[in-house]
Amino acid sequence: MSNLINNYARNNIEFISGDGSYLTSIDGRKYLDFGSGISVTNLGHNHKNITDIIVSEAAKLLHVSNLYLSTPQEELAEIIVKESFQGKLFFCNSGAEANEAAIKLARLYGNKKYNGKKDKILSFNNSFHGRTYATLSATAQDKIQNGFTPIAQYNRFAPFNDIDAVLNIVKNGDIVAIILELYQGESGILPIDPLFLKQLREICDKEDIILIFDEIQTGMGRTGEVFAYKHFNVEPDIMSMAKAMANGLPIGAIIAKDHIASLFTHGTHGTTFGGGAMITKVAKKVIEIISDKTFLNDITIKGELLKSTIENKLNDRVTFHGKGLLLGVETRFTPTTVVGKCLENGLVVIPAGNNTVRLFPPLNISKEDILIGAELFIKSINELDG
Ligand SMILES: Cc1ncc(COP(=O)(O)O)c(C=O)c1O
Repeated sequence: MSNLINNYARNNIEFISGDGSYLTSIDGRKYLDFGSGISVTNLGHNHKNITDIIVSEAAKLLHVSNLYLSTPQEELAEIIVKESFQGKLFFCNSGAEANEAAIKLARLYGNKKYNGKKDKILSFNNSFHGRTYATLSATAQDKIQNGFTPIAQYNRFAPFNDIDAVLNIVKNGDIVAIILELYQGESGILPIDPLFLKQLREICDKEDIILIFDEIQTGMGRTGEVFAYKHFNVEPDIMSMAKAMANGLPIGAIIAKDHIASLFTHGTHGTTFGGGAMITKVAKKVIEIISDKTFLNDITIKGELLKSTIENKLNDRVTFHGKGLLLGVETRFTPTTVVGKCLENGLVVIPAGNNTVRLFPPLNISKEDILIGAELFIKSINELDG
C-alpha cells in the first residue's frame, strides 16, 4: 500500500542510477534513456562537470535568501541574455512558476499602462503551460482543466495557427499578452506555422500586446538552437524556460524586455529558493556547454540520423514532428502501448498527445547510441504490428 497521492500513472520500474545516456533499474537492468526526464537531463546522467559543481557547492554554502547579492545569478543572467535578447531575468524553481511570473508581469503591464482595461491572456488549443491555477487556466486542454473549473476568467483561447481566430479575439482591445509554445510538446510536438508566428508578432506590435514564448520544453538546445525561437527570426517580449536548465536540479526563469521587467519592483514578486548558488552555477555550466556551435550542429545531425533511420525501416507506419532532438513520432498505437513495449525492449520514451511518443535522448548522446535506440524503437513497433 502506497502512502503517495495517486496523481501519476507510474510505470512499474524504479531507476536507481544513471550514467551518460543509460539508466539502471533496481533489478539491475540497463535502459537507453530517450526521455531525459521529459527533456530535463539534456546532458545525460552523472555528467562530470555538473557533479563536480554540485559536490563543491554543497560543501560551501547551500542557501542564502534573495535578500543578498548573488554573483552566480548575475553570471547566469548575463549568459542567457547573450544567447537570447536584451532583457532582465527572474529565477524561480519550475516551469509553471516561470509562466506564472510571466502572466503576473503581463497583468502589471495591463493595469499600469491601460488602467486594467487590458487584462486578458490569449493562449492556444492543445497548449501546455503548467499546473498552477494561472498556468492551468492558460492551458487550453480539457483534460488539464477538468475538475478545476471555474478557471481564471481572464483567459481566451484560439486554435493554434489560426490567425483569423486571433484577430477576432484581439479586436476587443482587452488582450494584454499572448502565450505560446513554438512546438506544442505535451500535445505531440505540434509545430507552429512560421507565417502565423510572424503575423502574431505584427499583431502584438500593432496592438501593444506582450508576446510570451514558453520555451520550457523546447529550450536549452533541444531543437539545435539554444532557444527554438532562433529558428524563426521572431523575438518574444518575455520568454520562460525551465526543465533542462540545470540538468535535473529544479530551476525556472523568465527573461523580459527591460520596459516590462522593470514593472516588478521590490516586493511585487519573489520566491524563497529561486536562483540558489548551486543551481545557478550548474545552469551556467549547462548553457556554456550547449551553446557551443559544434554541439548545436551535432544535435541537428543526430536528430536527422534518428529520424531517417526509423523512417527508412518503418516508412509510413510513423509520422515525425519536431526539430533537432525534439522529436515526436506518431504511430497507430496509443502512447502508453508504445511506451510499454519500448520499456520491455530496454528503451525509455515519453508519451504525448495524438498517438505520439516523444524521443528526447540526451543532447550529448553518441551517434552509436542514437542508432541503438532507433533499432530498439523499430523492433518495438514491429512487435506491436505483429
Ligand atoms: C511547455 C511547458 N510549459 C510549462 C511546463 C510546466 O513546467 P513544470 O512542470 O516545471 O512546472 C511544461 C512541463 O512539461 C511544459 O512542457
